[in-house]
Amino acid sequence: MRDLTPPRSSLEPIEIASRDEIAALQLDRLKWTLRHAYENVPFHRARFEAAGVHPDDLKNLADLAKFPFTQKSDLRDHYPFGLFAVPRERIARIHASSGTTGRPTVVGYTARDIETWAGLVARSMRASGVRPGDVVHVAYGYGLFTGGLGAHYGAERLGCTVVPVSGGMTERQVRLIEDFGASAIMVTPSYMLSILDEYRAAGLDPRESPLQVGIFGAEPWTNAMRAEIEEAFDMHAVDIYGLSEVMGPGVANECVETKDGLTLWEDHFYPEIIDPVTGAPLPDGEMGELVFTTLTKEGMPIVRYRTRDLTRLLPGTARSMRRMEKITGRTDDMMILRGVNVFPTQIEEQLLRVRSLAPHFQIELTREGRLDEMTVVVEAAPGHEAEEWRIRSASDLAHRVKEAVGVSVKVTVVSPGAAPRSQGKAARVVDKRPK
Ligand code: DLL
Repeated sequence: MRDLTPPRSSLEPIEIASRDEIAALQLDRLKWTLRHAYENVPFHRARFEAAGVHPDDLKNLADLAKFPFTQKSDLRDHYPFGLFAVPRERIARIHASSGTTGRPTVVGYTARDIETWAGLVARSMRASGVRPGDVVHVAYGYGLFTGGLGAHYGAERLGCTVVPVSGGMTERQVRLIEDFGASAIMVTPSYMLSILDEYRAAGLDPRESPLQVGIFGAEPWTNAMRAEIEEAFDMHAVDIYGLSEVMGPGVANECVETKDGLTLWEDHFYPEIIDPVTGAPLPDGEMGELVFTTLTKEGMPIVRYRTRDLTRLLPGTARSMRRMEKITGRTDDMMILRGVNVFPTQIEEQLLRVRSLAPHFQIELTREGRLDEMTVVVEAAPGHEAEEWRIRSASDLAHRVKEAVGVSVKVTVVSPGAAPRSQGKAARVVDKRPK
């Protein structure tokens, strides 16, 4: 793999500013955001008043803990435009979540918000090792999902040649990467695995592909998966994080020179970690739920938004800004089996250690009597489909999960190609328990 470390001179001054400078900027911007939300969004004003706080009560960064949280349900309750802080005419673009459970959550951006977002995705791509002039293949979905257009505007801003492919038609993805000479790809890690399969099906050596770096996000993935993808394609794999309620992709991104967690773009988002049960703020280094307050968003500022993502905050390394550890999972995805908390990423980590299994899997939850059961449905790696291999792989994985995670799971090994393939965010858990 080539060294893709961006030259220090290409970084924005704030990325390498002192902690004091960053904190001073955050305090100024936080004051602005609280006032903007209070004055222009009746929902925020009512919440502040109910909590007995006023924007003037924020004298230092720690005072933010006095302010109320915002949750996903608040966006749903004010569907569609109730949390906008500017007249609808000033909203230049709308995005929304898929809304598979209930109403979609809608977000709005002013023209300046779109500019800021493009700048932050460009910064994220630069941190990933992408340079102006590179060919960037965007396979995140275009549309209401923030992935495609978010990546697209960032790549344009950086001065790249953008190939807006969106998700799906995997054969064509491979052909375009090869024919257009893409050096960077932006896609979910699970769909990258489908692209990998397609390379092999087409008789192409993925290590000979023009790709130098992949910027993977929108779903949890492990360092074990990073190693798998880097080895298969002989390319760098870095993590990009974001969520539509806060902006979209580009809230945090890994630096290619360290790959040690994601640098949070703290000049635009103020992160906190809280205890997911009590809501109490936790010190840096402790694992908990990630909470964000936007610092510059005009169209839809958000105050202490509970992401439900679990991680911890770490000091800066490649940049002065703090990092967040790779996301373990969402509180919603946490399964509790005989009292033990289990996340799909823990299963993924173990599964990638069994060389006779392919990295395509799904977790089924069922109930036997009064006990919940977990079955990992995973594909045999090509050449390991025979019955005796399946038995051996299944018991190997079950054993590793028992050792590392502390739970007993069933493992069903299916034929290559038989596990569902992702074209975007993978659905890792299928809950078949009676409601
Ligand atoms: O997934 C935005 C995005 C697009 C991020 C492309 C990165 C790349 P939503 O659809 O609103 O937005 O989903 C946000 O996805 O709260 C996390 O649970 C999860 N997520 C996003 N990035 C990561 C990541 C986009 N790098 C939700 N690691 C978030 C783990 C991630 N989970």
